[in-house]
Amino acid sequence: IDELIGEGVAGKRVFVRADLNVPLDAGAITDDGRIRAAVPTIRKLSEGGARVVVASHLGRPKGAPDPQFSLAPVAKRLGELLGKDVAFASDTVGDSARSTVEASSGGGVTLLENLRFNAGETSKDDAERGAFAGELAALADLYVGDGFGAVHRKHASVYDLPARLPHAAGGLIATEVGVLKKLTEDVGRPYAVVLGGAKVSDKLGVIDHLLEKADRILIGGGMAYTFLKAQGHEVGSSLLQEDQVSVVQGYLERAEKLGVEFVLPVDVLAAESFPDLKTKAPAKPQTVAVDAIPAELMGLDIGPRTRELYASKLADAATVFWNGPMGVFEHPDYAEGTSAVARGLLDSDAFTVVGGGDSAAAVRLLGFDENAFGHISTGGGASLEYLEGKTLPGLAALEDS
Ligand code: 3PG
Repeated sequence: IDELIGEGVAGKRVFVRADLNVPLDAGAITDDGRIRAAVPTIRKLSEGGARVVVASHLGRPKGAPDPQFSLAPVAKRLGELLGKDVAFASDTVGDSARSTVEASSGGGVTLLENLRFNAGETSKDDAERGAFAGELAALADLYVGDGFGAVHRKHASVYDLPARLPHAAGGLIATEVGVLKKLTEDVGRPYAVVLGGAKVSDKLGVIDHLLEKADRILIGGGMAYTFLKAQGHEVGSSLLQEDQVSVVQGYLERAEKLGVEFVLPVDVLAAESFPDLKTKAPAKPQTVAVDAIPAELMGLDIGPRTRELYASKLADAATVFWNGPMGVFEHPDYAEGTSAVARGLLDSDAFTVVGGGDSAAAVRLLGFDENAFGHISTGGGASLEYLEGKTLPGLAALEDS
């Protein structure tokens, strides 16, 4: 992007594909981390005199306008962070987008409405995606790819549009890729990986790949129960992906052969029902050992002995990658496991990377100083797929830049 700015962007319409997909609660932004991460590139272009046209997706609308997924609240927050007005276009490629961009002057910033209000953005059909990319291209002279969180999506604005305009990678993408490279080449050892979150099926690819790279893999969150079942434990009414038990068994066996340590919970906090996240009414969980989870209870966080165990496994690590919360951290009775892992990262001298929208939001919500971590990635699926060694469409499209 510095090269692009060096060549002169004054007066040019520069399309910035950002990832401003932030969590909303009744229209209010609950974590603005991704907007803050998008600001430096937008500011640089604006200060260079560009007419900046920012675009992003938000949530998963079905290819048509849907007010609950409007980027309007994001435009307001982006303006506050930039310290200048952001013009908001009420559509993506229609009259409002065209006239708002047309009316913008050097240094001005426009945010287009949600890209996914248009079926062409996410279409599997190359021609349909290409046609939408053509409409987007008409709004700009240059393209900057900076939405790291979306680079694993083969979507029109991520993959097809850069081919239609002179393009460059933005500062956020450059930083994110630089950090993830450190986790794949010459990684400092011991290398500990902490994986959590609800579904084991989302993490199979990364586990498969990391078995060859990591020294220890610590498992928590809802996905831990499929591992515990694979180890022969009964998991009560905990989240379980029965169809993945044999796959997980295979990983446990492979890890043993490779000398990779799989660390699983030894105790959990469990209750009869899922907690109320709105009222946050006390949940009164019980601590149970993993070999004695009663049939009527579901595990909702790692327990105190597991917290200590995980902290000890992180203490002497040289590199840590963490993706996914250890429990239902949104409820105070089940936040301690996720907090303990965050503290474990901070207490070690390791180079620490927190990957994923959820884990990044958890760290901030639980009151940790995000600057104390080595790096907090804005990409969840994107950072996992990068670590899996996959080709990411949004990076491939920028490769020649
Ligand atoms: C994310 O939140 O991981 C990115 O913004 C991508 O969103 P998606 O999973 O809806 O494509």
